[in-house]
Amino acid sequence: MKPPVPIVTIDGPSSSGKGTISRIVAARVGWHLLDSGALYRLVALGAALRNFDPDDVEQHVSVARTMKVQFGSVGDGQEQVLLEGQDVTRKIRTEEAGAGASRVAVWPAVRAALTDRQRAFAQPPGLVADGRDMGTVIFPDAQLKVFLTASAEERAQRRHKQLIEKGSAASLAALSREIAERDQRDMSRQVAPLKPAPDAHLLDSTGLSIEAVVERVLSLGRERGLWPKA
Ligand code: DC
Repeated sequence: MKPPVPIVTIDGPSSSGKGTISRIVAARVGWHLLDSGALYRLVALGAALRNFDPDDVEQHVSVARTMKVQFGSVGDGQEQVLLEGQDVTRKIRTEEAGAGASRVAVWPAVRAALTDRQRAFAQPPGLVADGRDMGTVIFPDAQLKVFLTASAEERAQRRHKQLIEKGSAASLAALSREIAERDQRDMSRQVAPLKPAPDAHLLDSTGLSIEAVVERVLSLGRERGLWPKA
């Protein structure tokens, strides 16, 4: 039997910093990265690009099954995401794509259609998986599960700063409202709601620097013998 590929899952609500932390941890230890939220964003975007009905589940399932996606990086390590060969890196990061992702993510058939795609990312030497249900549904046997949180105010402020840096206009009040709505939808859906796995390590990043959170995750992995003491 093949030895299992070691997996670290990092789940948590929108703008908790999962994406940033997962990316840095994966790069530091030289493991693969799964940005599962990007797959939900791609399903919503892929369906919109084909002018599919936003309420038609079957059409979205067909996108989830058949879409051709490539994750890579360009130049100085900036991420690049291609959908059917088209560069959609910026498009999938808009608030609109995030809201579309959260909407299609409530459909069990779409989640099921993405399951094998997500598990296929588990390749040696290891995988850091970022999402909402990585530790509960997709990789229940992961060696380390982290549930990353931050206060709603801090998450809205982080998102606000990100958008301003990208040159987008954004109102802090509108962002706070959207984050609260998205949390509510992600936590209350029937299938794979956002919640920590029973064996997850809860990490509250409110008031912590990115480096401090990365160090905490690295040290949890070291304690479990997932990577050498550096
Ligand atoms: O992490 P993100 O903002 O890119 O995720 C976008 C949406 O996708 C989020 O609102 C909920 C959904 N999602 C999910 O249901 N399960 C995941 N594993 C990842 C994301």
